[in-house]
Amino acid sequence: MQIFGVDIGGSGIKGAPVDLARGDLAQERCKVLTPHPATPDSVADGVKEVVDHFGWTGPVGLTFPGVVTGGATIRTAANVDKSWIDTDARALFSERLGGLPVTVVNDADAAGVAEMEFGAGHGRGGTVILLTFGTGIGSALFVDGVLVPNTELGHLELHGHDAEKRASSKAREDGELTWEHWARRVQKYLAHVEMLFSPELFVIGGGVSRKAQKFLPHIEGIKAEIVPAQLQNNAGIVGAAMRAAKQ
Ligand code: BGC
Repeated sequence: MQIFGVDIGGSGIKGAPVDLARGDLAQERCKVLTPHPATPDSVADGVKEVVDHFGWTGPVGLTFPGVVTGGATIRTAANVDKSWIDTDARALFSERLGGLPVTVVNDADAAGVAEMEFGAGHGRGGTVILLTFGTGIGSALFVDGVLVPNTELGHLELHGHDAEKRASSKAREDGELTWEHWARRVQKYLAHVEMLFSPELFVIGGGVSRKAQKFLPHIEGIKAEIVPAQLQNNAGIVGAAMRAAKQ
């Protein structure tokens, strides 16, 4: 069975039909740049372009980089336009896609769901936390394989700062930090999350998962196992489609 997955990120809107049995893209993905400002209207246009590229007419699962409550109402918008707050994202996307059935979930939750089924968290019980390091820091918390949605651990306060402002991938790039310097910040962040949740496993996702050897060796003193995500850039797309399949 195939469902279309779309990952809405700070820099790109990426999508493809997903083969749910394999947990992989059924066709090469299509990407358009995220418009700036990333308002509901302009992002919906980008989503339509990606979905239309494949002539898709079935169900669509989408990720969003903020809190998404039950009926797909957006509650926060840290790295996209604030006009998203209180938007009914399901109604918006469904209307723009000519009435296709639509599901919307938090981006890190989607990536986590995909990693737990097809990647680094496969078969892992207990408490598992996936953290995505990108424009912000996203989190997905699993207890015995069950997702606790919208945990937003990227916004924990660390030394008086919003953690993602110090330890996201963007913070490394903007501050021109060395991998080692950035790894020390990530280590402090992981220690804080570990103090709160004592997970058995941290899965490190986002674009940096491909460069894990550059920073993971510098992270010390964390009791939990730390592994890079395996689905890398496709985790959000695959997870969004998986969530849509459950609706
Ligand atoms: C948002 C999260 C999101 C994360 C990664 C954070 O700023 O609050 O909802 O998962 O960025 O995009």
